[in-house]
Amino acid sequence: MNIAVIGVGYVGLVSGACFAKIGHNVICVDNDKSKISKLSQGIIPIFEPGLSEIVSDAIEEKKISFTDNLKSALDICDVVFIAVGTPQDEDGSADLSFVLQVAKSIAENSASPKLIITKSTVPAGTGKMISDLVLRTNPKIKFSIASNPEFLREGCAIDDFMNPDRIVAGISDEKSKEIFEEIYKKFPAEKLIFTDVITAELIKYASNSFLATKISFINEMADLCETVGGNIKDLSKSMGLDSRIGNKFLNPGPGFGGSCFPKDIMAIINVAKKNNVNLSLISSVIDSNKNRKIKMVQKISDILGGKIEGKKIALLGLAFKANTDDIRYSPAISIAQTLLEKGAVIFATDEEAIENAKLELKAFDNISFFTDFYEATKDADLILIVTEWGAYSQMDLDKVKKVTNCRKILDLRNILDAKKVVNNGFEYHFIGGKTGSN
Ligand code: UDX
Repeated sequence: MNIAVIGVGYVGLVSGACFAKIGHNVICVDNDKSKISKLSQGIIPIFEPGLSEIVSDAIEEKKISFTDNLKSALDICDVVFIAVGTPQDEDGSADLSFVLQVAKSIAENSASPKLIITKSTVPAGTGKMISDLVLRTNPKIKFSIASNPEFLREGCAIDDFMNPDRIVAGISDEKSKEIFEEIYKKFPAEKLIFTDVITAELIKYASNSFLATKISFINEMADLCETVGGNIKDLSKSMGLDSRIGNKFLNPGPGFGGSCFPKDIMAIINVAKKNNVNLSLISSVIDSNKNRKIKMVQKISDILGGKIEGKKIALLGLAFKANTDDIRYSPAISIAQTLLEKGAVIFATDEEAIENAKLELKAFDNISFFTDFYEATKDADLILIVTEWGAYSQMDLDKVKKVTNCRKILDLRNILDAKKVVNNGFEYHFIGGKTGSN
């Protein structure tokens, strides 16, 4: 099947590459000429494990190509995925201008029938909006609208695509159902869930809101454990063993970040508000996650004797989670900003996100960056772990002791073995339990 994917951002590129891998002929379209030229040579603009190999193989096998010419792609593809960005507008709603611009261009440039599928995360009702716009722009065009939201996680996106829990297809007619069955024929049929378009659009927002709620819930339980005495690791494990709850997304931490959760929960609240529906639970998740970062800074201050100014902090981790170079809404960046504003001196490190963080924090001169995380700890008063990179969880404590005199560790991801850390002579602070043991 010939498939056009419009937008080679994160979702578009991963989806396009994976469609090619499962045997389709894919044309990726973007109006960023330099991106297209790089991609045509197999140069990938983002860090995502495994993606580069898939794109290179697909280029070699001529299963994928990249162009800035939408019309040339539409001439040979009957299925068009819209995968452009839906950034957050000033009022928190999703900015649909890129999606609608692409829909209009599809209408203007299509000479044959099209199935137009949104992969971008779009608010409920966008399918109808696109449909009206396409009809207004080109009343002669034969087309159907569908929604196929993406549930990829950064860092494991290829595996998420190839082994999905479910594939949601929001459709408006029987013919679209057949096309979806053809697109996803390599996957077990029961994975394909058909709904109407508006429900499919809502499923994505509802899923992300639920996961964000789960994280905020466990973060607040961690606070309770710390205060009344209790251990979040045991609590989380036991809760997760209840099959009705499940053990995923129950790891406490510095708060959720990334390009999806913070943006999507604002967007769903916005849709609800516009329709006079009160999503009070999701609203409180936003507050809880905002307070989380303030709480983390308070924790740091307490450990440093109530004073942040002039304190030297080795900051391990800048990405919003491990296995990505993405710093969007990263709690590490937000915590770093507050610490820097309060006069701390930060020695920062990350496995992939240093260049992005340098740009983001360029206004500050009290931060320096280290590629070797041991080096970052050298003159520190506190070693602060904010991102759960495997390299940090496996840190060689003997080496740390040789490099630095610092003996204080605050682990905001609970990735270290408390006993080992304490037995090595460190003061160990973590989330949701008594200092020194977990
Ligand atoms: C998320 C959704 O999981 C994915 O389905 C959707 O397509 C895009 O948004 P992603 O943003 O890549 O994916 O990251 P995810 O792994 O879901 O983590 C989001 C945030 O939650 C991160 O900041 C992470 O550190 C945090 N998190 C996650 C926790 O704090 N605790 C957990 O137990 C899990």
